[in-house]
Amino acid sequence: MKKLEMLYEGKAKKVYRTDDEKKYIVEYKDDATAFNGEKKGTIVGKGVVNNKMSAALFSLLGENGIPTHQIELLSDNESLVKAVKILPLEVIVRNVAAGSLSQRLGIEEGVIMKETVLEFSYKNDELGDPMINDYHIKAMGFATDEELSIVKEYALKVNEILKEFFLGINIKLIDFKLEFGIYDGKVILADEISPDTCRLWDAETNKKLDKDRFRRDLGDVEEVYQEVLARINSK
Ligand code: C5P
Repeated sequence: MKKLEMLYEGKAKKVYRTDDEKKYIVEYKDDATAFNGEKKGTIVGKGVVNNKMSAALFSLLGENGIPTHQIELLSDNESLVKAVKILPLEVIVRNVAAGSLSQRLGIEEGVIMKETVLEFSYKNDELGDPMINDYHIKAMGFATDEELSIVKEYALKVNEILKEFFLGINIKLIDFKLEFGIYDGKVILADEISPDTCRLWDAETNKKLDKDRFRRDLGDVEEVYQEVLARINSK
């Protein structure tokens, strides 16, 4: 597989074209940003952790009936993926109040939601990824009715699979963000699943094992990324 020109550089990843038009190479970076790019830094080893963790979780999800973009790990920080057309949506799933939900609704972090909460944002850095609802999604043509129902179905199913998996390694899945794409006319799960995109709390101590340590200057940032991957590898 030949790695050709870079198609896109995001905050945490670069995407390259390959000699197969239906496959991309994703390269994970150690660069970290928060608050829509206002805070910048480096988390040494993050690219490797996020690549390996995403590969492991996409494989688990694939075995459980969720189609994903992952094809194979190519190196410590690169994966071969299906060349999807990303839907311009951030799909956020919440089990426990934290982050922007706590701020917006004045609910203390750690309060368990009576039901799983699904939120959508329009992926647009200039606008700061504004929250949108089903009507906006359909009215703006971000997804069709059918695509949106599949996105919701998959997001809730991913939550059930991951909640159980993480509990098995003594981690509570507080919330996370997913992105979906269209491949061969079908909705599949894309992007990454990592401590950058999930809130993960130790099940006994509630220690934050995710990017909130970087966002909030809590220290031990590199250590917790390694800790999460080590627990996943122990399964
Ligand atoms: O900031 P907020 O509380 O809305 O984040 C909810 C979840 O979505 C968190 O796990 C966060 O890491 C993730 N997220 C993300 N990328 C964004 C926004 C949120 O991965 N642009």
